[in-house]
Amino acid sequence: MKDQFEIDVTEEEIEFFQENGFLSINQITTDEEIDWMKGLYDQLFNDRWGENEGNYFDLGGRRSHQGPDVLPQVLGPESRFPELRETIYFHNTVKISAKLLGVEKENINGGGHMILKPAQYGRETPWHQDEAYWNPHEMAHRLSAWLPLDPATLDSGCMQFIPRSHLQDVLPHRHVDDDPLVHALVTDEVNPDQAVACPIPLGGATFHHCRTLHYSGPNLTDQQRRAYILVVGPPGKKLDKPFKRPWIEEGQRAVANLKSRS
Ligand code: NI
Repeated sequence: MKDQFEIDVTEEEIEFFQENGFLSINQITTDEEIDWMKGLYDQLFNDRWGENEGNYFDLGGRRSHQGPDVLPQVLGPESRFPELRETIYFHNTVKISAKLLGVEKENINGGGHMILKPAQYGRETPWHQDEAYWNPHEMAHRLSAWLPLDPATLDSGCMQFIPRSHLQDVLPHRHVDDDPLVHALVTDEVNPDQAVACPIPLGGATFHHCRTLHYSGPNLTDQQRRAYILVVGPPGKKLDKPFKRPWIEEGQRAVANLKSRS
């Protein structure tokens, strides 16, 4: 980007993140860049880009289900559009994340995914910790930056967090609807009364640690709610003894069975 738009976080914001496991900021990029990203975003979802390779799928519905997708997701949009790695959003996210995680900027890498909540029927993203989805053979120290491309309100499905939940281990998770063919995971060990909702204006972003419990509600509005998430951090540390995350194998087995039958 030629006109670099620099955003930084204050010492208070860094402290808040480290204590609570999340942070909300009012601006991370420009309106122009958001407009430009919307174009690429819509193209990826309209094309169902990489569906056969597993890049596009419905996070909230049963694999290969009929009918409209309730929570469509695109993984790794930067491999289709490498210019997404050159954005103000990407640049600021790496810079800010290094400070929030307390690591060198040079040590940080990562990539993105996009989650769409269609107008009126976009499904909730139930309570979970991101690390529950990840490789159990690694200790992770990463965070997600969450950039909505439409205003994020309580009714359109803004992010909600449980303060200080990043200080605990990864909790037991299960597949939504207890169906291993649904990709989305949920944990029942959460008290939603403790949730802090983070509505943000267009151009703002939230950050959360990979162990922070988070949720976003269904989209009840007449407007779609697009979000572009970057997951960044230093490489994970290999563990001698892996974490127990049986829900991951359950999902892999169910998908393998489905494929062998079709
Ligand atoms: Ni998540």
